[in-house]
Amino acid sequence: PDGLDDAGYASGMKRYHLTTFGCQMNEHDSERMKGMLESLGYAETPTREQADLILFNTCSIRESADSRFIAHLGEAKRLKRERPERVVGVGGCWAQSIKEEVFERFPFVDVAFGPGQVHRLAEFLTSDAITAQGYFEFEGFTGHLPARRTRPFQGWLQISVGCNCACSYCIVPSTRGREVSRPPAELVEEVRSMAADGVREVTLLGQNVNSYGRDLPTRRPSAGSAPQGAPDRVSFAELLGLLDGVEGIERIRYTSPHPKDMREDVIRAHVELQSVCEHIHLPLQSGSSRILKAMRRTYDRRRYLDRVALIREHVPDASLTTDIIVGFPGETEEDFAQTMEVVGEVGYDSAFTFIFSPRRGTEAAGLTDGLIPHPVKVERMGRLLELVQRDALARAQRFLGRTLEVLVEGPSRTDPERLRGRTRHNKVVNFGGLAAPGELTDVQITAATSQTLSGEERLLARARAS
Ligand code: SAH
Ligand code: SF4
Ligand code: F3S
Repeated sequence: PDGLDDAGYASGMKRYHLTTFGCQMNEHDSERMKGMLESLGYAETPTREQADLILFNTCSIRESADSRFIAHLGEAKRLKRERPERVVGVGGCWAQSIKEEVFERFPFVDVAFGPGQVHRLAEFLTSDAITAQGYFEFEGFTGHLPARRTRPFQGWLQISVGCNCACSYCIVPSTRGREVSRPPAELVEEVRSMAADGVREVTLLGQNVNSYGRDLPTRRPSAGSAPQGAPDRVSFAELLGLLDGVEGIERIRYTSPHPKDMREDVIRAHVELQSVCEHIHLPLQSGSSRILKAMRRTYDRRRYLDRVALIREHVPDASLTTDIIVGFPGETEEDFAQTMEVVGEVGYDSAFTFIFSPRRGTEAAGLTDGLIPHPVKVERMGRLLELVQRDALARAQRFLGRTLEVLVEGPSRTDPERLRGRTRHNKVVNFGGLAAPGELTDVQITAATSQTLSGEERLLARARAS
């Protein structure tokens, strides 16, 4: 009688369930998918069982990503068999990497689409399509679709799609295409509208953010061509400047920059622009110049360390994080020792470490010489992790006794009586306090592990002391 069904949904309303794998780029694409589905009248449901539309946004960066996703597909297959009018959709990088083969391998899939084809999902859902459809062109930005943000005060801004690098291990250039930058005026406009919606922290996304803008037209501003005073083409550092000027945005982050394109102007932006946070994620991949060359990273150990020195010179307190691959074909004990040396020399605040995984279609997957046996990879990984942890713990001690600005994200995961937030250095802090999610508050740091800080909101600490 109230027009709602058992589960509390408006009757007749279609429901979707979406599972996201992979990087922040995919998380963001999923927000766009959700926004789009909701504008089509779909409501999200917490279980696949209840869904009319079962969606996956996939990743293919390593073999483990593929297998995690395929393990989930079995349930979709069973549910589709039970109720054949259900729609099963597979989007993202894995779908793009095998294209039409999706339908050969998994005949119960109704629609498959690459990362640049999210908008086609709407086309499929609103058509009378009776046959399976695949959409794999490189053409679009999900950035043009409405987003449904997980947290109202944090937003992602996709500044470019694709990647023009040719890292020999990496599948991304083949799943996301060539690099295309979005015009600065459009980005400024999007950030203004985010700020108007209550967003305080923006993370700029791209495969190689600091090559941003190089593909844009060289024409400088002409009357009427660029509203809000944004020229047609700007460098990444200039883009940071434009976005820093948007009222209401307190923090800007970006991921990932490429060491080959890390220029002094970008590093200085961390000092000169109030909102640009004191954290730089600078992927190392290997500390051996020989391996870096085989990886086609186009920088060597010396150039990387030189970037780090420049960062330390301008932003001494910045936290530095990285990505490292262990066991690339041909990596000798000596090469690995050089990675350990660079890691020891830099002293990262944290690092993501990966075991090399051969990816279909990549150059490195074709290498047959010097393949590293799995136990050797695992053993090296163990040594690396130990070093990374030790450095992270030592680095975190510099925050003890300091008062840091924290953006409150919600209750602590370990103790719901406490709060959880993030510092400008991107350290997670669990703390006692009364601030609400989305607020910026000052927290006195009283303890530090390699992963997290803990402390107490300053107001509270003061009240207790007096
Ligand atoms: N464009 C970003 C991120 C790429 S993917 C960048 O260049 O930094 C994130 C990380 O996954 C990479 O930095 C790399 O360390 C790791 N990675 C990519 N391909 C891999 C592979 N085939 N095997 C193992 N790790 C890989
Ligand atoms: Fe992959 Fe290299 Fe491009 Fe990063 S820069 S996405 S590792 S090809
Ligand atoms: Fe991201 Fe995975 Fe694609 S890491 S770019 S979703 S292959």
